Amino acid sequence: MAAIIMDGKKTAAYVRQKVKEKCLLLKKEKGIVLGLAVILVGDDNASQIYVRNKAKACEEVGINSKQYTLPANTGQEELLKLIDTLNKDDKINGILVQLPLPKHIDEKEVIKAIDPKKDVDAFSNENIGRMFCGDMICSPCTPSGILEMLDYYKIDVRGKHCVVIGRSAIVGKPMAMMLLNRDATVTVCHSKTKDLPHICRQADILVVAVGKPKMITCEYVKPGAVVVDVGINRDENGKLCGDVDFESVKETASYISPVPGGVGPMTIAMLLNNVCNTVN
Ligand code: GUN
Repeated sequence: MAAIIMDGKKTAAYVRQKVKEKCLLLKKEKGIVLGLAVILVGDDNASQIYVRNKAKACEEVGINSKQYTLPANTGQEELLKLIDTLNKDDKINGILVQLPLPKHIDEKEVIKAIDPKKDVDAFSNENIGRMFCGDMICSPCTPSGILEMLDYYKIDVRGKHCVVIGRSAIVGKPMAMMLLNRDATVTVCHSKTKDLPHICRQADILVVAVGKPKMITCEYVKPGAVVVDVGINRDENGKLCGDVDFESVKETASYISPVPGGVGPMTIAMLLNNVCNTVN
């Protein structure tokens, strides 16, 4: 039987509607209009698109977004100064520095400079520590978007074997921790993992964040497993595709997230949710 497709656009629309209602209530009851500062350094094409989409999504739910576009040769000190100003600005509730930054800027120092209360990416040490303790105020957008999508489709992770492929600080590591916080049994795989297909085939839920177009075929998937594709790649014809070979896996999995229209829209929806969560 063909897998049920987890529709990220539909799920994200549901999250965005809830955020919109929260924003309206905040304005009506407290006169607060939330503000998000988005900083983009340089002219990376993909980053420009992401930032534009984030600004548009903010507008739609009633969050004021303010974009700071700085040239690629911006010095680290200048960037830190801007963050300091935004930290002190009452009208700014969230600060997002789009990654990656140009090589001459130390990303860790930049993230450290953001007030943890305004760190809507949840990249700061404080927010990572909170995640470790299961005491989150806001959580990284992509993994929390994945959990939201699983919830929407009533897929319970408790007691399930979740295999996460990828150990990045943005997706793989926080995903593993958040699944663990929800009582899943978690295995994290990466580029050095031996016999990856064998481990993946043990997964009830397989989360793929490797950055390799169509790498995961049905050989990696247990019949009936849930497959979540975090990849955003271009295939040999320049067409957008995930890390999962959708055609190969769709008959084996019970649920699958497509690319595009799966995890991507969820990431932005959860960012808006995090901006909302900066006030209580
Ligand atoms: N670059 C790729 N994904 C992200 C993200 O979620 N947040 C930021 N700030 N930069 C990114």
